[in-house]
Amino acid sequence: MGKNVALVLAGGRGSRAGHGIPKQYREIRGVSLLRRSLIAFCEHPEINLVRAVIHPEDQHLYEMVARDLPLEPPVFGGDTRQKSGLNGLESFIEYSPSKILIHDAARPFVAADTITRVLDSLDSSTAALAASKITDTVKKQDKGGYVRETIPREELWRAQTPQGFRFKEILAAHIQFQNESYTDDAAIVEAAGHKVLLVDGNEENFKVTNPEDFVRGEVLSGTEEMTTHNIVDLSGIRTGIGFDVHRFGPGDHVILCGVPIPHTHGLLAHSDADVAMHALTDAILGGICAGDIGTYFPPSDMKWKGASSDIFLTEAAKMVTQKNGVINHIDLTIVCETPKIGPHRESMQSRLAEILNLSSELISIKGTTSEKLGFTGRREGIAAQAAATIWIR
Ligand code: CTP
Ligand code: MG
Repeated sequence: MGKNVALVLAGGRGSRAGHGIPKQYREIRGVSLLRRSLIAFCEHPEINLVRAVIHPEDQHLYEMVARDLPLEPPVFGGDTRQKSGLNGLESFIEYSPSKILIHDAARPFVAADTITRVLDSLDSSTAALAASKITDTVKKQDKGGYVRETIPREELWRAQTPQGFRFKEILAAHIQFQNESYTDDAAIVEAAGHKVLLVDGNEENFKVTNPEDFVRGEVLSGTEEMTTHNIVDLSGIRTGIGFDVHRFGPGDHVILCGVPIPHTHGLLAHSDADVAMHALTDAILGGICAGDIGTYFPPSDMKWKGASSDIFLTEAAKMVTQKNGVINHIDLTIVCETPKIGPHRESMQSRLAEILNLSSELISIKGTTSEKLGFTGRREGIAAQAAATIWIR
């Protein structure tokens, strides 16, 4: 039996999608549309060979996308999708495949079972295409903008790709109609007199066309897809930084990361002056682009007078959860000549671990002096700096 091959069309310019580079090379959660489409076919157990059709100017972009995938060398496309399809078809002649699937690179969310359905239906049909039934009522408009006609939707489907064909028939039809213009390959075999079977595609298999389609794609490509395609996704990782200073004043202890530490002075502030926890709260808020500590707990509000700073940190952590995020790691540096941080590190870690519901091993606390320089060196106060790494799912 002949091979099953897949042709992924990526020779267009993506003019409607805007932006600098053609849409098929733009990424959704760190993986380009073209790479997502290629992976879907490379990983399908019934597909033997996969080839992309690319624009001659995109060779360097293609190399980056395709480097580690098991692909046939790409071929160049033409001015129209139809011409790109024909070039791709001709490149497979030497393999005499039995079935070919033609897919738009701009449909990165094609499901494996959509591919299977199209492929399997070619056992009984010359041609088949993935499509979805129309659920909206469809209206035809007249020139004045009014409804001319309501079209019964029962028989209407929206065409997707892949579209599958017996190789000989699609090649012959493409050659026969190369001087006419069709928007999809199924229409070309229809014109050649073949019957084309409609099979269910998948709802997510939309064609990325306009700029807002990238937003839809971002939402769609959740963890589930990452697992299926074994994609290591780093695009949801955010890093926030925070910084705070409090001045020494009268007192016999300071509070750092929720831990009271005996000292010759206290720290002055509206709240309990936990400078370390304030820096950390700001880092977390920074990681989710949610303003700063003063946005939620203004010092002008008497409610926060003497408040324990864990209220602020708890609230910031809650906001991360609300944004579907997880705190992965935090790193904190406390700058002061005294008190010494080292002896209290473990209790600080445990307190933060408790508040953030995070393992102590993911909480780093460091102390440093500023070599007697500046306000911390003159023992006028304590400064703290924090970084929080957050993964938004
Ligand atoms: N395509 C192609 N060769 C062309 C035109 C299109 O291979 N000359 C491919 C595109 O790369 C895309 C698919 O056909 O994967 C569907 O086309 P479309 O969504 O229209 O993409 P573009 O033509 O790139 O976009 P636009 O029409 O907005 O310029
Ligand atoms: Mg186009």
